[in-house]
Amino acid sequence: MELMEAIQQRKSIRAFKNRKVPKDIIMEILNIACRAPSAMNTQPWEFVVLSGEKLNRLRAAMVEKLKEGAPISPEHLVVGWPNDSVYKKRQIDLAKLLFKAMNIPREDVEKRVWWLERGFRFFDAPAAIVIAADRVLGESAPLLDLGAVMQNICLAALHFGLGTCIEDQGVLYPEVFREHTGISSTKRLVIAIAIGYPDEDFPANQISSEREPAESLTTWVE
Ligand SMILES: Cc1cc2nc3c(=O)[nH]c(=O)nc-3n(C[C@H](O)[C@H](O)[C@H](O)COP(=O)(O)O)c2cc1C
Repeated sequence: MELMEAIQQRKSIRAFKNRKVPKDIIMEILNIACRAPSAMNTQPWEFVVLSGEKLNRLRAAMVEKLKEGAPISPEHLVVGWPNDSVYKKRQIDLAKLLFKAMNIPREDVEKRVWWLERGFRFFDAPAAIVIAADRVLGESAPLLDLGAVMQNICLAALHFGLGTCIEDQGVLYPEVFREHTGISSTKRLVIAIAIGYPDEDFPANQISSEREPAESLTTWVE
């Protein structure tokens, strides 16, 4: 796929076909994604790839935690945005777009909970990639580099007909993740990416999230 087209076409995919993603394809995606730049070529990224029964058990355990009302304990910086800001407005606009597509009214608590749980189930994707970084690197230093590799993964996935959803939700219960994967606590879990063949018919996969035109975000100094 041509580069400009791939950047334009990438979007969050929140439902997938029941079709396995071959391991060699995921490895190819990760290898090309690792061409991302990083500060002083430190390459601070590490990956945990989950699929099959192990992934199914993890998603079930995360949803169970959520249902218990267990507090989330993210290991990455969690951004907040002021209620009266344009950022909050954009968040609400996205939620409206998604809930409208999914036909989930505001007052339908049951459906809203169902939707929330889908994120914690990696949207039932056949595979999930978690990007981690060694704790010796500190909390914020590797984030820009990890972001670059994260975007590369999503773009490279398109080349194989795969869709992705970057998701915080996949790493909000790190202790559950460790129980199910054996990943050391010396590794900070930063972000998850659900990956699989897109279910084109799923309404949320048909939305196109909005963007501000770059002209309104750019200051020219010349
Ligand atoms: C750091 C990060 C965390 C995200 N976490 C979630 C998440 O937990 N659940 C979710 O449904 N989408 C999540 N997303 C996807 C965003 O909602 C999505 O990228 C944004 O709305 C723009 O839509 P698009 O990806 O379709 O272009 C996340 C994206 C990023 C970059």
